[in-house]
Amino acid sequence: MSYKNDLILRAARGEKTERTPIWMMRQAGRVLPEYREVRSKMKDFIEFVKTPERAAEVTIQPIDYFDVDAAIIFSDILTIPEAMGLPYEMVEKRGPIFPKTISAAADLKHVKVADAESDLGYVGEAIKITKKELDGRVPLIGFAGAPWTIFAYMIEGSGSKNFSKARAFLFQENKAAHQLMDMITESTIAYLKMQIRSGADMVQVFDSWAGVLSPALYTEFGMPYIQKICKAIPEVPVTVFAKGANWDFAELNELDCQVIGLDWNLKVDEVRKHIAGKTLQGNLDPAVLYAPDQEVVLHTQRMMRSFEGQPHIANLGHGLYPDLDRRKAKLFVETVKNYGK
Ligand code: CP3
Repeated sequence: MSYKNDLILRAARGEKTERTPIWMMRQAGRVLPEYREVRSKMKDFIEFVKTPERAAEVTIQPIDYFDVDAAIIFSDILTIPEAMGLPYEMVEKRGPIFPKTISAAADLKHVKVADAESDLGYVGEAIKITKKELDGRVPLIGFAGAPWTIFAYMIEGSGSKNFSKARAFLFQENKAAHQLMDMITESTIAYLKMQIRSGADMVQVFDSWAGVLSPALYTEFGMPYIQKICKAIPEVPVTVFAKGANWDFAELNELDCQVIGLDWNLKVDEVRKHIAGKTLQGNLDPAVLYAPDQEVVLHTQRMMRSFEGQPHIANLGHGLYPDLDRRKAKLFVETVKNYGK
């Protein structure tokens, strides 16, 4: 495969690049009117995710509008619990709801290890179509949730402020918790490998709820399973984004992954002391994109300066908020591209 722009793949491998590549988490979505247009024609979010032609279409929209250096496949991390036997609904303005959850060890008999091809083939299909339509413009990022974050939804049954039910389960049903974590990990490895066979050029593991665990619990339930995924995926660069796991970058540095994603709740210079031989991704506070233009530019330049001399992929510290003005996000992208010129 030859690319017109492979900056992100070179940066992920730690190579020096002529400028810092940029993409944004949740770049495909509600900030774009062309996304909302396609979305309004679908019955619901889940049907949308399962319609490969439409998923490919909205995956490419942010490449056209923002001119970012990578596409990320339009899907959701919740495809995995569904494939394991717990379907979900996406409730407008509220988020995901699981009618069935795991609330006791005995419930494990209601879930299985997902079969990547038969249960999740629609994501592979969307990737193949996207790759064909992208025609080498930019690389395509595949993704999955990290085992802890997926586990948290399977126990809790919805989003939650601090996932106390899921955390309680770790103490009450320690053995079953590890069993379920193993099943999720196995499903996720097969899923990511299928995405890579279908054409994903790199993959990101989202541990969105890492920050609700204590460091000790993260050492027991977060890291080992993420490391298993990293070790199982030698094919392409792997990015680990453990949101809120800002207590131990020395431990994150041990992971067999190429890129570590950073949120905005940390001091980049402190993190850099613990990270060696890896690319860092991040980490502008998405709320900066509500500021006046000059401030967006200033904060972006300050963020870029904090990563100078370090292999870096520019991004936000978390996903784009749906109500922000897409022109601010475009200004962020342009500021990164012009940085140092
Ligand atoms: O980044 C991208 O542009 C690619 C697509 C993508 C979506 N979800 C589309 C989506 C990705 C990478 C995700 C990952 C995801 N999904 C995460 C991890 C990243 C993170 O934000 O921490 C999580 C935790 C989820 C679960 C999820 N999906 C929630 C909690 C919600 C509801 C909250 C919300 O933002 O509305 C979703 C819905 C969702 N996933 C939407 C999109 C575009 C909005 C659905 C809509 O259009 O109505």
